[in-house]
Amino acid sequence: MDVEIVGRALSTLPEDDDHPYRTGPWRPQTTEWRADDLEVTGEIPADLEGVYLRNTENPVHPAISLYHPFDGDGMIHVVGFRDGKAFYRNRFVRTDGFAAEQEAGKALWAGIAERPALSLRADGWGARTRMKDASSTDIVVHAGQALSSFWQCGDLYRLDPLTLETIGKSPWAPDWGVSAHTKVDDRTGELLFFSYATEAPYLRYGVVGPDNRLKHLTDVPLPGPRLPHDMAFTENYAILNDFPLFWDPALIARGKYASRFHRDLPSRFGVVPRYGTEVRWFEADPTYVLHFANAYEDGDEIVIDGFHQGCPEPADPRGEGVYQRMFRFLALERMETRLHRWRLNLVTGQVKEERLSERFTEFGMINPNLGGQPYRYTYAATQRPGWFLFDGIVKHDLHTGSEERYALPEGVYGSETAMAPRPGATAEDDGYLVTLTTDMNADRSECLVFDAGRLTDGPIARVRLPERISSGTHATWAAGSALPGWHDGTSML
Ligand SMILES: [Fe+2]
Repeated sequence: MDVEIVGRALSTLPEDDDHPYRTGPWRPQTTEWRADDLEVTGEIPADLEGVYLRNTENPVHPAISLYHPFDGDGMIHVVGFRDGKAFYRNRFVRTDGFAAEQEAGKALWAGIAERPALSLRADGWGARTRMKDASSTDIVVHAGQALSSFWQCGDLYRLDPLTLETIGKSPWAPDWGVSAHTKVDDRTGELLFFSYATEAPYLRYGVVGPDNRLKHLTDVPLPGPRLPHDMAFTENYAILNDFPLFWDPALIARGKYASRFHRDLPSRFGVVPRYGTEVRWFEADPTYVLHFANAYEDGDEIVIDGFHQGCPEPADPRGEGVYQRMFRFLALERMETRLHRWRLNLVTGQVKEERLSERFTEFGMINPNLGGQPYRYTYAATQRPGWFLFDGIVKHDLHTGSEERYALPEGVYGSETAMAPRPGATAEDDGYLVTLTTDMNADRSECLVFDAGRLTDGPIARVRLPERISSGTHATWAAGSALPGWHDGTSML
């Protein structure tokens, strides 16, 4: 392994930090690495060509009062596979907020668990305003560049997908910013996105072309401020949502932002033609969905698969500590997240819904060639009870209803697992699954590669990273063929 330290961030976190999401598997990194020709156990498939990118939260300063893991600064990790070898890089996203706090040597903005009025700066980002845009939630690759984003709307930061150098911000982003979970349609090269705010019309939807220019932007008016986290799309439609879990308007008026689940209100799906302005709403049973797996058209129906929450607002464990209360919203088994299907009938306006699995899973990924198309498999995560830590991978077969699970060893946690289709594959699961681990037993991290058709056989290659990484949130796969200069090596680091 050829390793070099290329950067270090200033950290003012205490040596004896005891925050549960800044220690253990969530211990942040401050070091930026370049590592080539990584040590491999097993064999990297010769036809695995491309990059796995993962976004993680890496706080470097104590919060003003109370840290939540979604506040941490975005650090992107890339593991690239080429000619049977692997390389690794990790870099902080150079957001405006990260730069300002590095200079100040302390937190300047209040986080999700704090009131905006605590911010030392009057400016900021986010639907509720006066937050730091940490760009630490999501990562996609569009038009040859990696785009990192923030869950509560911010700038879309553009990064070189190989070096992870921050290039700048997407110039087309509207003034509300852009939410995490932009959607890339690999068939058209378009990027679909949404933005939300606490001012009318509360939600907007847009399309960016493969040329990285804004192609369409329209309002999706809502009855009030909402907290959408994801959207879905089919070949011809975008599907936005209005779920009955949102900030209490009475508290917003007092400068507090606390979400409440309204069991008396329906869930609503807003269907918009991809380049249209007319929104058609469909009502379903009340729930909240953090992430959708996929959607597609089936005759008169739009089929949407996502992770239904049986209990979007878990009971407050009164008498427990502040962390237990705060982090109940991170526990899949408390929220009862299960794969679920909604069928929206475009002729009758009716909605049919059904549970697809009894198991608590979330963070489902699919073969990226099938976004918006009929598909069969979702690769999702299981969680260590009570913790935002992934302890296994489940392959849901939506044709047969069967499931396979690979359990990570106790003390080893995975990341969102991306599917890398094999070039020239005809079967949907002909390809590889890629994930990063945080191994608390061996104090190391690895990149695991599985045969997607044989998940339960375990990894076919394990690639060792130079340092144990923090756990985090979203990830993606980009084929080398989608990256400028990959084939002729001109952008190869
Ligand atoms: Fe997310």
